[in-house]
Amino acid sequence: MLRTHTCNALNTKNIHQKVTLCGWVQYIRNKGNIIWVDLRDHYGITQLVAEIAKSSPEVITQIQQLQREDVIQITGIVIERSAKNKAICTGDIEVKVTAITMLNQSKILPFPIHDKQEISEAIRMQYRYLDLRRKTLQDNLILKHHVIQQVNQFLSEHHFLNLETPHLIKSTPEGARDFLVPARQFKEHFYALPQSPQILKQLFMVAGFDRYYQIAKCFRDEDLRADRQPEFTQIDCEMAFVEQEDVLNLFEKLIQKIFKKIKNIDLPSFPRISYAQAIKMYGTDKPDLRWGMPFIAIKDRLPEHEFLPWQNQAHIAGIVVDDKENFYSRKKIDQIKKAIEVISPEIAHRLVYIKYAKSRTIKSSVDKFFTTEQLQLLLNNMQAKPSSLVCILSGSYNATQQALATLRQVIIQNKILQKQHPEKKFSPAWITDFPLFSWDNTLKKYTAMHHPFTAPQLHQKDWDKLDHQPERVMAQAYDLVINGVEIGGGSLRIHQSMLQKKIFNILGFTPEDMKTQFGFFLDALQYGTPPHGGIAIGLDRLCAIIIEKNTIRDFIPFPKNHQGKDVMMEAPSII
Ligand code: AMO
Repeated sequence: MLRTHTCNALNTKNIHQKVTLCGWVQYIRNKGNIIWVDLRDHYGITQLVAEIAKSSPEVITQIQQLQREDVIQITGIVIERSAKNKAICTGDIEVKVTAITMLNQSKILPFPIHDKQEISEAIRMQYRYLDLRRKTLQDNLILKHHVIQQVNQFLSEHHFLNLETPHLIKSTPEGARDFLVPARQFKEHFYALPQSPQILKQLFMVAGFDRYYQIAKCFRDEDLRADRQPEFTQIDCEMAFVEQEDVLNLFEKLIQKIFKKIKNIDLPSFPRISYAQAIKMYGTDKPDLRWGMPFIAIKDRLPEHEFLPWQNQAHIAGIVVDDKENFYSRKKIDQIKKAIEVISPEIAHRLVYIKYAKSRTIKSSVDKFFTTEQLQLLLNNMQAKPSSLVCILSGSYNATQQALATLRQVIIQNKILQKQHPEKKFSPAWITDFPLFSWDNTLKKYTAMHHPFTAPQLHQKDWDKLDHQPERVMAQAYDLVINGVEIGGGSLRIHQSMLQKKIFNILGFTPEDMKTQFGFFLDALQYGTPPHGGIAIGLDRLCAIIIEKNTIRDFIPFPKNHQGKDVMMEAPSII
């Protein structure tokens, strides 16, 4: 070894020892007669010291010539520090340098290696290998490693086999575009990179493996966001002979174990919320449950009123916002109105607010139309407590729900900006009972809400319901949502070829399309396929949520930028 210790290893027990360390020059402080150097490696930082009066002239010359990020090997004696640094493990000691070897010099850096300064994302991405030297990014990747260790251990203990699937395949649809790879030996033919190993993991079940998992790379050509990368990683799983609750219970345990081991947090049992309920209460199938604030429909609970804008509205609903800080001035409410205007100027115009002060006085935008008693009744109906703001929107059902979702989001953002703490730090939930299909108004056809292999909530005798009102059929599908982010999704699968054909048919596949795209799969389903189901958890998203971040880019060593480019390698490039 080139070293006796790492830069995080030494403490007072090592005093008087002769040690050799290797690392990067993080920081140099030259006080003239004494020079300190922070030496950094992957594990930590150790302070080095050299004094003009006491060190050899050779060491002093060498140390004076050091530049940041030079890689050096030093030998020296561990001594006690006079000014201790409690922030680091090695803060009680320093190493008095007796010899220095330059292992490799560094050019002047494009940006300093620390988190103290805002550096443009573009430059960080161009020099990703330098950005990765930062502690935050190193810590993120270490966290990912530990999560993977927990996953491997848990799934292995529960009899899952880590089985690999190929990357050069035929399209596996997940709703995005495929990345294609030309096949040299077959003119005009292409492989597709897997959007997920969906079909292949199902084939493992056909093959008689009972439980499969893989830390799987997936590739999707879709518009990028903070929580989306074209290339990302799933904890991909499949199980034979299971019902929905078996999958939910097991993967709930896995998530609980990860949070316990990594964060020492005990997550209570995850609530199950149906899709319909989520939409009704939060206007989204990915509700951020940390903040409470469900929508309260009040059309049937209104006091007598002369407020014309509420007459003939299909839906009147609102939310109660805790406002102990008395944050919601007229100006702030106008900002909320502006955000709702993007969804519907009419709904924004009809926004009603009631400020219920700590002193129990009531002030509202509709004081002219309601008596104080009527407003009090309304507040009681909505279970509003003093020190709150109530916002009420009205209009058609869908638009009002959408506007309420925006309103709730704006309020959550305000609470985050005010550094308020949510009711809970982590709020996971299973969203269940999704519709099987959704109608695509642009394409004028049904699309699968999850993917085409999802089993409907139908007994075989009721399959003909699919022909009449497919939009009414529910799926045996579920999503895992934590803090408003979709962390995972899965379903029980169709395991009968006939039903699979029927679903493809509803999705607009002709018999020829089915044969060319999925012939092998429909065939496989005919050879004794067991009932099966599974889930895939987005590993990058899970890691980000664990440390309460919302961009997954910092959990992927070499991610693409917002345009899907690798700016360091300059990929994609013309071949
Ligand atoms: P789904 O498409 O819901 O399901 O993906 C599962 C999970 O993968 C993560 N994810 C992503 N993470 C980062 N960037 C992306 N572009 C991206 N797309 C998805 C999300 C998501 O919840 N085959 C099914 C799973 C199954 O049915 O078993 C599937 O892939 O966290």
